[in-house]
Amino acid sequence: METVEKANAKLNLSLDILGLRPDGYHELSMVMASVDLHDEVRISLRADGEIRLRCEGIDLPTDGRNLAVRAAEAFFDAAGCRAGVDIFLRKRIPVGSGMAGGSSDAAATLRALDRLTGAGLTRERLCEIGLTVGSDVPYCIGGGVALAGGRGEKLTPQPDLPPCSIVICKPPFPISTAELFRASDRTTLTKHPDTAGLLQALRKQDLSGAARKLYNVFEDVLPETCREVYSIRSRLMGYGALGAIMTGTGSAVFGIFDSEEKARTAREILGREYSECFLTSPVPPVFPRKAEETP
Ligand code: C5P
Repeated sequence: METVEKANAKLNLSLDILGLRPDGYHELSMVMASVDLHDEVRISLRADGEIRLRCEGIDLPTDGRNLAVRAAEAFFDAAGCRAGVDIFLRKRIPVGSGMAGGSSDAAATLRALDRLTGAGLTRERLCEIGLTVGSDVPYCIGGGVALAGGRGEKLTPQPDLPPCSIVICKPPFPISTAELFRASDRTTLTKHPDTAGLLQALRKQDLSGAARKLYNVFEDVLPETCREVYSIRSRLMGYGALGAIMTGTGSAVFGIFDSEEKARTAREILGREYSECFLTSPVPPVFPRKAEETP
């Protein structure tokens, strides 16, 4: 039996670095949102205990360097069942873009394996397993709008974004996550996002208020070679975005529009120069909210 999961891309509406932790990771405070742009993850169990991965759309490692393979290994270790699995990835989320494509594939693999094996693990347990694969995996298990603290795994659900169009444009260079974190360590960050103000705007369903609060501290430590990020950001604003920032450690930049027409035009113009340019929209969380989680 085969199951198909959507692995949605994530965008950072805000990203703040609060400090360096004793374990070498950084203490973060981020507001994330998931969007309809997604990879497709097809999973079926194998009797022989092998974990096999095929990928379409981009040349990616198919061994333990691939987060989906790591997720399958971690799942079988934790669930104590040693089945095998065929994973087929249809990639659409650009690699090295700050949209958690690999983490989202890993999260989709965990959700699918839980269902296919009948293991019935709780969402919390899946998140614990996901955290052993990568800091963004717990968020990607459930998606939606969430405030993320700690390494990124302490999640508090937030209200969905109001309906809007989002244009994502990735310049043709990846940015190394680890290197950008190291660059942030060498700098004293003087500007920080108004996370409370952003969450307040989301509670009020004030799209332009939320868009004005978009802020990512990594934009302030970008190397000279990545300055195109700023030009894409200004161009998105010029085409009518209510706000625009780089997501995560980049290099993708996105703009939020209240007019689908303006967003289409922006995508079309930028799409002439950038092959990785997308028009998308927010999606709700994967799991229906529990009553106590209602924001
Ligand atoms: O957890 P993950 O493997 O996705 O993290 C990739 C890299 O990003 C880490 O090796 C670390 O350099 C950096 N990172 C960090 N603090 C976080 C998350 C990631 O320093 N909270």
